[in-house]
Amino acid sequence: MASPIHKGFTRKSLLDYSESQRGSYEKTLRELVEIPSVSADPKHHTDVSSVVSQAAALMTQLGAETRVLETGGHPLLHARFDHDPDAPTITVYNHLDVQPAELAEGWRSDPFKFTKDRDRYWGRGTTDDKGPALAALWGAKYAIAHDAPVNIHFLWEAEEEIGSPHFESTIKKHTERMKTDSIVVSDTVWVSREQPACPAGLRGLQGFRISLETGATDQHSGTAGGAARNPVAELCQLIAACFDARTGEVKIPGFYDDVVEPTEAELADLQKSGFTTEAFMRDHEFKSLRVEDPVEIMKRIWCAPTFEVHGISGGYQGPGVKTIVPPRATAIVSCRLVPNMDTDKIARLVESFVKEQNPDAEVEIEHGLPAYRGRIDGPHPDAIRAAMRFAFEKDPVFVREGGSIGAVVSMENVLDAPVFFLGLSLPEHGYHAPNENFDWRQAEGGMLAFADYFRRVGEMGRGR
Ligand code: BES
Ligand code: MN
Ligand code: MN
Repeated sequence: MASPIHKGFTRKSLLDYSESQRGSYEKTLRELVEIPSVSADPKHHTDVSSVVSQAAALMTQLGAETRVLETGGHPLLHARFDHDPDAPTITVYNHLDVQPAELAEGWRSDPFKFTKDRDRYWGRGTTDDKGPALAALWGAKYAIAHDAPVNIHFLWEAEEEIGSPHFESTIKKHTERMKTDSIVVSDTVWVSREQPACPAGLRGLQGFRISLETGATDQHSGTAGGAARNPVAELCQLIAACFDARTGEVKIPGFYDDVVEPTEAELADLQKSGFTTEAFMRDHEFKSLRVEDPVEIMKRIWCAPTFEVHGISGGYQGPGVKTIVPPRATAIVSCRLVPNMDTDKIARLVESFVKEQNPDAEVEIEHGLPAYRGRIDGPHPDAIRAAMRFAFEKDPVFVREGGSIGAVVSMENVLDAPVFFLGLSLPEHGYHAPNENFDWRQAEGGMLAFADYFRRVGEMGRGR
């Protein structure tokens, strides 16, 4: 039956729909953002469960057959809007957990208070990934109400920001209810507001915590300094042996062995991607960079592996100079990986290099995520192109992206279905940064793009 409000999938009817739904979209986004679902922080574990229950209640209320699945860690939500067993099934993946946030990091408003200023929404998780998740859901609501010939399933994870440690084992247990023909992920960033983009690949990630303990407590640097080892400084030296901080070049032997250089076609796509150094610097608030040539920057952020230091802790951090020798220090580091590099091989390489440089250093190896090479040709990528053009009136470019999403490779392998991407975030939205934000234009465009994509893939039928 046609909806009493609107018929069909025209731009006009979808724009009317999105406008009429704006209040309920914002209200729901507010509810989700105000639950501080920081998966990495034990103090927020109940919040992570609450965000999943809250989302499950929403799905049930919208008529989905909903399950909250135990994982051994944070729960996983699977909700099904089934239309017809003969219609294709699309699974939409998003995540409900967020990065940590503290007011003191430079937030202009409480990170877990949803604040709205005209078309812009502020708060941790607005763009990564609660705003896009709800835009996809609102697109699905429209497609369902207008009888798009498609079954739409939602797989909302709550451990993405900690590397999806239980995702693969959990979906393995539920393959029957998760049967799907294709998957669409909305958790990636455009080149710029003017240039929609879809990932042609994602980098992988291998993280490490390296710690060194050379004493039990702080000691006076006048009485012990000179003879005492300094763990903070030793970790600095160790890190300097791993890579050249000025150029970024990794010095660990064998690190680059499996890297495949971008193809001529990929390099040509980079040239056409609309990326500019000026916009990159502005959007990310950089004062200077290692390199300035735009192609060189794109190769570095999308196509090359890295060694990164996220933080070093230890020693005195307060006002003035406190003359102590600290007893211990920790460095949190990671390597971004590109397709064909192996997480375990890199983990062993880094660990043995660190041990060789400093036998007293302890290395904890985090759960690794493999890199992903995406599909850019065929009926689904074409449907993504068409849906983005329909919604945003501009064709997306397909270029690799630098971030990592652990669930992607797991879903392809376990559910045996291809993954496509329909991202909605912008560089200026500040992924993982203070003052993370999302905006109505991206949310509204997202609703249109998803509704249109569901209709198109539905009309393609099964067997694709
Ligand atoms: N949405 C990002 C992944 C992403 C970032 C895609 C940039 C495209 C461009 C995701 O939420 C994320 O931040 N992943 C983490 C995973 C890690 C914490 C295990 C990442 O990439 O650091
Ligand atoms: Mn994300
Ligand atoms: Mn993230």
